[in-house]
Parts: sequence; structure tokens; C-alpha cells
Amino acid sequence: MIDIKAIKSELEMVSDLEQLDAFFQKYLGKKWSITEGFKQMGSASPEERKALGQKLTEAKDQVTEAYEAKEMELSREKINQLLNADLVDISLDTQPLDQGSYSVLAKVRREIEEVYKSLGFIIDYGHEIVTKYENFESVNIPLTHPATEMHDTIYLNDLDPKGLPLILRTHNSAHQVQDMMKYGVPLKLGSPGRVYRFESMDASHDVMFRYAEGIVIDKNLSIANFKDTMQKILSWILGKKTEIRMRPGYFPFVEPGFEIDAACPICDGKGCNLCKNVWRIELLGAGMVHPEVIKNAGLDPAEWSGFAWGIGVSRLAAIRYGIKDIRYFTNGDLRFSKSFA
Ligand code: DAH
Repeated sequence: MIDIKAIKSELEMVSDLEQLDAFFQKYLGKKWSITEGFKQMGSASPEERKALGQKLTEAKDQVTEAYEAKEMELSREKINQLLNADLVDISLDTQPLDQGSYSVLAKVRREIEEVYKSLGFIIDYGHEIVTKYENFESVNIPLTHPATEMHDTIYLNDLDPKGLPLILRTHNSAHQVQDMMKYGVPLKLGSPGRVYRFESMDASHDVMFRYAEGIVIDKNLSIANFKDTMQKILSWILGKKTEIRMRPGYFPFVEPGFEIDAACPICDGKGCNLCKNVWRIELLGAGMVHPEVIKNAGLDPAEWSGFAWGIGVSRLAAIRYGIKDIRYFTNGDLRFSKSFA
């Protein structure tokens, strides 16, 4: 009746999953052979039915087992075929990819950060959207000061909790008070980052440029401490021991305030195009932190003193690499960027 041997050798001949499906339909599916055999049991006598049932079950088990083994074997083969077809030869050479690099501004900023860190400064970038209080009042600039005018500062539509418009910071000094409160005193902190001013753009002005602020707060700090620190930082940044000169300068958040010049890094004070033969270049604004600013951080100015400065990173990079127009830094011209890669 059912020749298991013949069925199995038929199964042997099956060579793909499609044929295997046909085999299943033929012997194990609803309509066919073995299933059909079970149906015929209905017309057999009770004794025959028992023997027939046993035989059929045995046959079904054996064929099912062989079928499952075959299915496993063919599926594995199929997967291997697909994997082989998809094989990527990772040892093959490809076209070389363009490699990115830091922008020249990021390089100079990172160098300044390294100098700050080597002197034990905390680095905190602050944030670029600030309140008018942070940018102006906290650093002793009254809201009636011309710097707060629409034509000097970039205003946002969003309001701060006091109902005043938020602005883009015009200097990193906006974080001095916040940082004193956040980290406590004594404090040595560097704050590099972008600042924004409502400027008409030309070769030396942009609406966005980069500054690297620094602030030191401690007891009994003097102008001598300040000058020494500036001398060290600028010498490191300019890559050689550099004489500095401090001239009086006005910033509302310092008293006294200074403009700091360094001997021209190109001609060493002999006179050249860069320094326009005045031998020095103006590098930063600075001063002894104003008592009002110290008070705004909840500290007693009779006890705590400090000095702070802002280095123009864009300016420094322009000087160092002889870049005549600072708009090159941000105009996205790859020829420019690649020349510093
Ligand atoms: N905030 C000044 C500017 O944007 C630079 C500056 C001057 C920073 C004096 C200071 C400072 O911390 O004490 O031009």
C-alpha cells in the first residue's frame, strides 16, 4: 500500500524548496496520499482499521521526519546561497574618502583651551542665548547703555521670565556672575565661544565672531598678578615669550580696565605690515573685576578680588595666519578650509 522506501527516495531527489513544497502537498498535505489513507479507514472493518491506523501513523511519522530533515538542509543551503551572493570583499581598495579636519578657528580655540587648562582653569562654554540681565546688568552695564540698543545687539522674539526679550550674547562676560555662583570662589575659569553683534559686515567685522574669556577670582589679587598671568597666557598662545603692554581702556565691568597689546608676533617689534609699523598688536580687553560685578555674585568685594579678559579668537587666528578678511572663516569655501587641514 504505502511504500515508504519509494517515498523517501523520491524525497532524496528533491533539490529545492519549491520541489519540497510539491512533495509536501503530494504526501503530507490535506488532499493527498497519507491523509487520503486515513480517510479510507472509515470504510475498513474495526480490526483492519486498527492495523491500518498504526501503519499509517508510522508512515506519516517517518515521512514527516525525513521531510523536516530535508527542509532544514535545503533552507540552510538557500541561506548560504543568499549570503554568498551578498558577499562584500572588504579587502578591496575603495576610492579614498575626503577626510574632514578642524577649522582654523577651532584649532586656535582648542589651543587657547589647552593653555587655560594647563593653568588649572575650568572650561565652561556658557550659552549663546542669554537674558538682558546676564549680558548687561550683571556685568554693570545699565539697560540704558548704548550697547543695549537694537542696532548693537541681536534680539530674539522670545521673552525671559521678566518679560524682556532674550538676546544673543554680545560677549562671554555675560557668564561671569553666573559662573562665580555656579562654581564658587576662588575661581579660575575660561569661557571660549561665539558672540554676536549687530554689525555691518566688512573685512574685519562680522555679526558672529569668537572670543575666549578668562576670569580669576581670589583674595588679594593685584594688577601685578594679572600682568604676570596675561604675559604667560599670551606667550604660550603666540608660541614665544612675548612682551605685553597694558593701556588704560574702558569696560563697565572692570575697574581699572585695560587694553592689552602684545609685541607683534611677526616682526617681534621691528615693524611690519601686520602691525602697520607700530610694533604692537591689540589682542584683548581686560581689567580688574568691578566690585559691583563681585557683589552681583553675592560676594563681598572687600574680601574678594579678580581679573578678567577677553581674547579675540578670530582676530588672533587672522593675525597668526595673515588672513586679511575674517569672512573667509565662515563662508564655507573649501579651498580656504583645506589650506589649513
Ligand atoms: N567683553 C569685552 C569685549 O567683548 C572683552 C573684555 C574686556 C572681557 C574686559 C573682559 C574684560 O572679561 O574684563 O570686547
